[in-house]
Amino acid sequence: MRIMFVGPPGAGKGTQAVRVSAAYGIPHVSTGDMLREEIKNGSALGQKAKSYIDKGELVPDDVIIEMVKERIGRADAKNGFLLDGFPRTRTQAEALDEFARLDTVINIYVPDDKLVHRICGRRVCSECGATYHESMLQDVRHCPKCGASLFIRDDDKEEIVKQRLSVYKEKTQPLIEYYSERGILHDIVGSGGIDTITKAILAVINGEK
Ligand code: AP5
Repeated sequence: MRIMFVGPPGAGKGTQAVRVSAAYGIPHVSTGDMLREEIKNGSALGQKAKSYIDKGELVPDDVIIEMVKERIGRADAKNGFLLDGFPRTRTQAEALDEFARLDTVINIYVPDDKLVHRICGRRVCSECGATYHESMLQDVRHCPKCGASLFIRDDDKEEIVKQRLSVYKEKTQPLIEYYSERGILHDIVGSGGIDTITKAILAVINGEK
């Protein structure tokens, strides 16, 4: 099962991808998480990526394509994977077509005003990577699952978020038509409760809708 989630920053792709990949026992391949790990490790790739991420720009296609090709070539992705945040440009989509064919693309739609609110309130666990909105938390400094400290992503500042939204519209939104023309795109409204959205996505993937 080869699934991809597309949607603007803050649509809930990561939140849903954790649940859906676990339901099918396939790896969650998030290019954003992979790049943040490279930054944390201080690698050359991470340093290069940071200069783009901090401005709300996309990291160059060739870097990302090689990273994903290597990741989905690993043994744990033999029976499928869930791509979250890739492809993000037409060049990336065409490159992916050369090394893997997607079965299903889920387009998660949320209005812009909700996106900014969601991202600006996001807190991420420094240890287990769990993602929350501050409104869900009694203690905004510690992860309710593992107790480690929560942090705010450097690219979650309002002005950077607006730039990321504008990059999404220009470079990534056209992929909705790209996959719609192939008959594998499904729209999901991403503005309800988290459990309700998971059920809707699973129903689409299982062919029940
Ligand atoms: P990436 O990490 O992929 O960021 P993004 O696509 O901008 O998406 P987000 O992680 O911001 O949002 P999400 O949709 O996953 O939402 P989440 O579930 O966290 O990329 C970061 C950067 O890396 C890019 O800007 C770029 O520079 C670079 N990059 C990555 N991939 C690349 C590529 N392929 N090519 C080039 N560059 C690349 O939820 C957000 C918030 O909302 C959370 O607080 C959450 O708790 C809350 N929430 C979730 N669902 C709900 C709900 N149903 N109701 C209420 N709140 C909710």
